[in-house]
Amino acid sequence: MQSFSNVTVFDHPLITHKLSILRDENTGSKQFRELVSEIGMLMAYEVMRDLPMEETVIKTPITEAKVKVLAGKKLALVPILRAGLGMLDGVLTLVPSAKIGHIGLYRDHETLEPKEYYCKLPEDIEERQVILLDPMLATGGSGSAAIQFIKARGCHNIKFVSILAAPEGVERLAKEHPDVHIYTGCVDEKLNENGYIVPGLGDAGDRLFGTL
Ligand code: PRP
Ligand code: URA
Repeated sequence: MQSFSNVTVFDHPLITHKLSILRDENTGSKQFRELVSEIGMLMAYEVMRDLPMEETVIKTPITEAKVKVLAGKKLALVPILRAGLGMLDGVLTLVPSAKIGHIGLYRDHETLEPKEYYCKLPEDIEERQVILLDPMLATGGSGSAAIQFIKARGCHNIKFVSILAAPEGVERLAKEHPDVHIYTGCVDEKLNENGYIVPGLGDAGDRLFGTL
């Protein structure tokens, strides 16, 4: 795969370990859900490293002190339905007051093209840092369409967080949306003829929600 400056592949042992359990076909829905949420939280910690801070003055029990706090409430978390919902709780444990939007997309099984069925975003989305959540970046069709919806609403401050990616999806997003930073737990080998990531973890939505 070509290397892109706007892609971060996490190499943290906790993320890699949890991802290996996710890949295992014997991992059931309950554990799958817990792991997706935990990985979401671990990734969010790093994704939010560059959140803007501001200074304020507080009183400690000892004296007055100038301290730094997060500037404003300017985050929006946007899971791509369904599978992105699995990452949401984990991320929310770190930023409980973030606004939440939802984008409903599913891949047509024949064409692999994303079909939109829902889009509800915070009113002031254009003023926010958007963190798009979807565990799977395969062809990149769903991710690219979701980014397009958000840009159409005037927001150009977007990060895309996935648990697993295919080289094809990373390349597509990097070409179509070079301004969007991509975070992922691993870039796998390839897509198969049905558009599934190889070796991958199977269908994330079905494994999360037990609809296999
Ligand atoms: C999965 C996944 C992504 C999409 C990735 O969703 O959660 O949204 O596929 O594939 P792409 O990069 O080729 O577009 P799916 O369409 O299976 O819907 P679901 O989450 O409702 O199961
Ligand atoms: N969507 C999934 O859930 N899994 C894949 O491997 C590809 C797309």
